[in-house]
Amino acid sequence: MRYFVNTRLKTLFAPVLFATGMCSVSVTLANQPLPQNELFQAEASRLAQSLSREDKLKLVFGYFGNDYYNWGNKKQTPKHPESIPQSAGYVEGLPNAKIPALFETDAGIGVASQPGPTPRLATALPSGLAIAATWDPDLAYEGGRMIGEEAKSFGFNVMLAGAANLIREPLNGRNFEYASEDPLLTGVMVGAQIKGIQSNKIISTLKHFALNAQETNRASLNAVIDEVAFRESDLLAFQIALEEGKPASVMCSYNKVNGQYACESDFLLNRILKQEWGFKGFVMSDWGATHSTIPAALNGLDQESAGDAFDLVPYFSYALKEAVNQQWVPETRLTDMAQRIIYAMLTTGVLPQSTAQLPPLDINKNELISRKAATESMVLLKNDNKVLPLSNQIKQILVVGGHADRGVLSGGGSSKVYPRGGIAVEGLTPTDWPGPVIFFPSSPVEALKKRLPTTHIRFMQSGTNEELTEAAKSSDIVVVFATQWIGEDNDALSLDLPDNQNAVIQTLSAANKKVIVVLETGGAVAMPWLNQVSGVLAAWYPGTQGGEAIADILSGKANPSGRLPISFPKSLNQMPRPQIIGDRKNGNLQPEVIYHEGKYVGYKWFQKNAEAPLFPFGFGLSYSEFHYITSPTQSQNQDCTLSFNVKNTGRVEGSDVVQLYTRVPTVSGAIEYRLVGWKKIHLKPNQYKSFDISADKRLLRQFNAESQQWKTLERPVALYWGKHSEETVKTPISCQ
Ligand code: BGC
Repeated sequence: MRYFVNTRLKTLFAPVLFATGMCSVSVTLANQPLPQNELFQAEASRLAQSLSREDKLKLVFGYFGNDYYNWGNKKQTPKHPESIPQSAGYVEGLPNAKIPALFETDAGIGVASQPGPTPRLATALPSGLAIAATWDPDLAYEGGRMIGEEAKSFGFNVMLAGAANLIREPLNGRNFEYASEDPLLTGVMVGAQIKGIQSNKIISTLKHFALNAQETNRASLNAVIDEVAFRESDLLAFQIALEEGKPASVMCSYNKVNGQYACESDFLLNRILKQEWGFKGFVMSDWGATHSTIPAALNGLDQESAGDAFDLVPYFSYALKEAVNQQWVPETRLTDMAQRIIYAMLTTGVLPQSTAQLPPLDINKNELISRKAATESMVLLKNDNKVLPLSNQIKQILVVGGHADRGVLSGGGSSKVYPRGGIAVEGLTPTDWPGPVIFFPSSPVEALKKRLPTTHIRFMQSGTNEELTEAAKSSDIVVVFATQWIGEDNDALSLDLPDNQNAVIQTLSAANKKVIVVLETGGAVAMPWLNQVSGVLAAWYPGTQGGEAIADILSGKANPSGRLPISFPKSLNQMPRPQIIGDRKNGNLQPEVIYHEGKYVGYKWFQKNAEAPLFPFGFGLSYSEFHYITSPTQSQNQDCTLSFNVKNTGRVEGSDVVQLYTRVPTVSGAIEYRLVGWKKIHLKPNQYKSFDISADKRLLRQFNAESQQWKTLERPVALYWGKHSEETVKTPISCQ
């Protein structure tokens, strides 16, 4: 084959071509330039083929970036000497071929650190779930760009971020890392974050592929699901994230899917990801998720992560060498693995390695990005008698709990970011994995004091019933901060707020009619006190500027515009599984979860069962009112597009999120609700805007198991618009 290389690309590849002595074989003119990705592929292929077996084996084996004791094989492994201290991973480079080493860091909210004495200090965004609650892909991109920039400044060129698992279990300890219960919202928001990260010329990693919906027994769990349901739910979220974000790597998950470990699943890795979706980058395993050499290599795993430390044996080290020597794994497959890794480096710009000096980080700017994301993510769930925003005429505010005098909570596990300014509350348990529990030093109380300088604000972390009652009675308003710490490897035990926080809220609301609850949680929680309080704000885990953002919303400096990316159930009895299956204490069990709800995840489940959640998917209040003046009409010549006219009739500027849904009839007779599009619009008071929303055609299809093809719907379906999933209005528009 002959390829055309334009001058820019020639310059780009020059070092690589020279290093491999391939200048002469490369590329001569033809009439048509090849698309850039094909050029990268051709180049990756040439490079991979020029490597020795030893060199290729180096690229497919990752090391841990921290000292590690493996309880499975009782082995202590020191960190790889070249790795960045307290980091997630390291893959050796090939200096002779000018292929750089890979320096890997977690994760979705910012540059994380593994345990140790000197963690990196970085800017943390609000949780992944919070970012999805903004319903603003531009913000997700900007957040990704910012954390990617910080990762690069610490010397990393791989960020293990882009978590697209659908939220199926309200108790899952990693819900805060994920985006939503909906495939479109998840795919678009995670895809935007990945794009932002990779705009720094580093690799981003879509994870955890797939159906890693709970942490309990995650390493042995068999997740069972019907193929059509899988395609139209979790796989669709990954597919959209892949299309939108074009991540250069994908991380396979710990669990089994339909009996096969995800990291050696021919169905997931070869058939779907690589063949059907055309993924040309590389698949890395989650840390400790490789279980074999030959099946894993043949079924699509391209790189074993932290194979020196986490897996029972280093499967892709000497064992893979032997397998290739014996031709149990063909040399061509090893070359393909190396090619995919090199391709990922080329498409992102990790290769050729830049020697340019990075501009210094603008920390203040980065903190402002985090603050904006937090502000936009907060969901006002209840606001009786406009108790919020807090007026500066209020004389006495009592603030209770949540260490709100010191900071805001974040989630546990490998994604933990250590903030500049230190951990705000020391000594909370667990202090070890998946802890320590980290409060970011951004105090809502201090921030509120700045915004309400003439109000007396008193803080109590806790108190006896009598003390709380008395303090609440002598205050005009009570703001309670309620926290729920969850983390990787640590599913929540119940939907209730932990400790005695529900009782505290009940005591306070018995003593004062104006109680506002601010929730800092990893996901949904039950609210047995809902009828007794006046206001509820879901602030999620709000990142390193969380206190400022909460105070902005409470004081009315900012108008809440977040919308729920998940349904809040009234109780676990409304869910497909009222309990997490498996035994938290015994990792050796072989539990199986049958996802009988299939594609009916979240709001789809509630609607199928005609159950009302506590708060529906898409819900959120505002301090202003948005009046939709005309009913939507189909704009001319634009299929599946609705035109809207809206006016902000409130007194403050703010944003509204208009959502489009459809209802798809299914073979079983059930109707499936689907989010097919949305728009977030910002309006000043009295401002009027016209705008369009189009239904995303990727949602107007059904997967046919027999033909193994996506098919357009048999008949056009009506579009519905609304402000959340439980209250939608049928439009005159149908589309197919
Ligand atoms: C997590 C991954 C993470 C990896 C590296 C694993 O325990 O599941 O999400 O990227 O560790 O820290």
